[in-house]
Amino acid sequence: MPEINQNDAVKFFFTLAFLTATAVSFPSSPDRFLRSAPSTYLRSTDEPQEYEELRRPLPSDQLTPSCSHVLLRHSFANTIDGPPFTARYTPPSDCTTPPWSYVVLDLRAASSGDQYDRISGLWLGGVELLRTSTAEPSPSGIFWNVRKDVTRYSSLFMRTDLNVTMMLENIVNDVYTGIYHINVTLNFYKFNPIASNLEVNSRLGFLESQRSDQTPADLIIPVCDGGNRGFWFMIDNPTETYSKRIQIPSNTRQIVLELYVSFHGNDEFWYSNPPNSYISTNNLATGRSNGAYREVFVKIDGRYVGSEVPFPVIFTGGINPLFWEPVVAIGAFNLPSYDMDLTPFLGLLLDGKSHEFALGVNDGISYWLVDANLHLWLDHGSSNVEAGSRLYDSPSRHMVREEEFEQLDGSFRVEAEVHSEYDGWVRSSKDNLTTMVKSIFKVGSLVRFEENGTYKRVEQRVQTKRIVEVTSESGIPVNRVMYQRTYPLTVITSTRRGLTNDKDTYMLLTNISHALNETHSDGEALTQVYNRQDSEGWMEVEDHNVLAGESSTRQSLSYINEFSCYSRTIIAANGEITQDSSSDSCTSSSSSELDRLSSVS
Ligand SMILES: *[C@@H]1O[C@H](CO)[C@@H](O)[C@H](O)[C@H]1NC(C)=O
Ligand SMILES: *[C@@H]1O[C@H](CO)[C@@H](O)[C@H](O)[C@H]1NC(C)=O
Ligand SMILES: *[C@@H]1O[C@H](CO)[C@@H](O)[C@H](O)[C@H]1NC(C)=O
Ligand SMILES: *[C@@H]1O[C@H](CO)[C@@H](O)[C@H](O)[C@H]1NC(C)=O
Ligand SMILES: *[C@@H]1O[C@H](CO)[C@@H](O)[C@H](O)[C@H]1NC(C)=O
Ligand SMILES: *[C@@H]1O[C@H](CO)[C@@H](O)[C@H](O)[C@H]1NC(C)=O
Repeated sequence: MPEINQNDAVKFFFTLAFLTATAVSFPSSPDRFLRSAPSTYLRSTDEPQEYEELRRPLPSDQLTPSCSHVLLRHSFANTIDGPPFTARYTPPSDCTTPPWSYVVLDLRAASSGDQYDRISGLWLGGVELLRTSTAEPSPSGIFWNVRKDVTRYSSLFMRTDLNVTMMLENIVNDVYTGIYHINVTLNFYKFNPIASNLEVNSRLGFLESQRSDQTPADLIIPVCDGGNRGFWFMIDNPTETYSKRIQIPSNTRQIVLELYVSFHGNDEFWYSNPPNSYISTNNLATGRSNGAYREVFVKIDGRYVGSEVPFPVIFTGGINPLFWEPVVAIGAFNLPSYDMDLTPFLGLLLDGKSHEFALGVNDGISYWLVDANLHLWLDHGSSNVEAGSRLYDSPSRHMVREEEFEQLDGSFRVEAEVHSEYDGWVRSSKDNLTTMVKSIFKVGSLVRFEENGTYKRVEQRVQTKRIVEVTSESGIPVNRVMYQRTYPLTVITSTRRGLTNDKDTYMLLTNISHALNETHSDGEALTQVYNRQDSEGWMEVEDHNVLAGESSTRQSLSYINEFSCYSRTIIAANGEITQDSSSDSCTSSSSSELDRLSSVS
């Protein structure tokens, strides 16, 4: 039984419809809230509740690993302003030797009490393996499990000179009581994918490894900070440089940069920030500024080599925390990383000198946590690889910003389109291959305020496409890989007077709809993942504490490739799962969808 009386809540809900004209003196803004004890729906048992992020099953889910290796066990209590947790990494001794067909990182977390969501990074030798965030606990306790395919980091797992590091800054005092207990294990699998009838080679997913098409890199070098406060760069303004000088081995034949990013503080909801003119004209006391457009960029020696508009992950305290129990938002437990193939730049990098790899955020304000891993494939037949960058074009950029407002009402639009194309050859002991990397992204963003700023509508559409084409010296196509992603987001927040007429409380009515649609093709092999969440509800808030509310979230996830299909639909209402169905049969509509996709690609 929910603690709040449902009938009363519904009654209040309707009464409120007549109170809309009540001006609230601040504009609605997505914010971060604490789902505090009084608001927690009292469940029929006081058993700890399981939280989850919907994901596609991994091929290894039903298999017993060849060996399991504990990476860390730690309880994160009052860790604020402290150094990260660090321990010596020892490679698994009871495992048969590599190569492993599959390595899965298994994180188990538990917490009880009151606590905000917290961000966390896990690194091995400074190489980030997982960016995750925590769920806000309840007094009776919650727990969850994150499983991530980490096969692409295999070259690290046999090394004896590395530390494992986990950063999770938490506050424990009289008010915030939740301690996060974390266990991380690596599971190593050795199986023959054909014999076990599992298509390991198509374990793609935005939220999993993206370069399943090839064997893990020989070497991984982090582009990261010193590690005293975690290995991420903490970016809090758009002008400073956050960089590291790195020397690339002279027999590198392929290089892919993997970017990890999360946003916090005044930029946690960057996609909803109004421009500074709106804030200053209305004299608003908010730091959530600089407009609603951000790009995380990568530079080598001061030249732009790529950028990403990140997927807007919403943490469990975000916008309306009741939406995210017990099913969290897309990516909240396993934030996406973004791959950029930098092979066309080897012509600049293979000169035996160190080069400056810089990361930054256009218009970014406090604060972003950003780092990257360089995955390097080496030429085992030579100590020197020759390379040339044939073509260097800086991106073509088209951007329009429109703003129109009167007092607290108005609308702000951003339309951006960025194209870039790079091309370079690499002559290894085996062959001379030319890699062409083409990327396009389009972003449309709208932030609109109505009703004296008490109603806010945020819409964002991001579309990205990246094509990597490899051709032989004689011009014959060797491989073509394409990643295409769209992520639409709509957030509507309406601020009303509180239920109790208490001037310190207010009511927020919120709708969120967001999705992640990705298509990946590698030669003829095609995969599509579609993941969507729609949430609606209200909450009564005092300061940042949720006092009461109702919520429902519906999510559907579908996955199709040429071997298999998977789909799952789940509905969570008022903290409980009310519907959950899944299927792994390929309906005719899913295969025709795939046919349609093949014909476009
Ligand atoms: C972590 O492992 C220890 C030892 O096996 C176990 O007692 C504890 O419950 C585990 N914690 C979590 C969060 O799974
Ligand atoms: C690993 O951590 C220990 C203890 O914090 C530190 O003394 C050592 O220098 C670290 N080693 C590496 C390779 O970072
Ligand atoms: C907006 O505020 C003005 C003046 O404060 C008031 O007259 C008007 O009724 C308000 N409009 C709405 C839709 O709340
Ligand atoms: C490799 O191939 C490219 C284009 O196909 C050519 O321009 C380049 O000179 C070749 N490099 C070597 C070392 O043969
Ligand atoms: C949220 O969505 C529901 C159902 O689609 C709709 O009735 C309601 O008006 C929406 N709320 C807001 C604040 O737009
Ligand atoms: C997902 O993206 C693909 C490729 O752009 C597109 O064909 C498809 O219609 C999209 N699916 C949905 C449900 O939006």
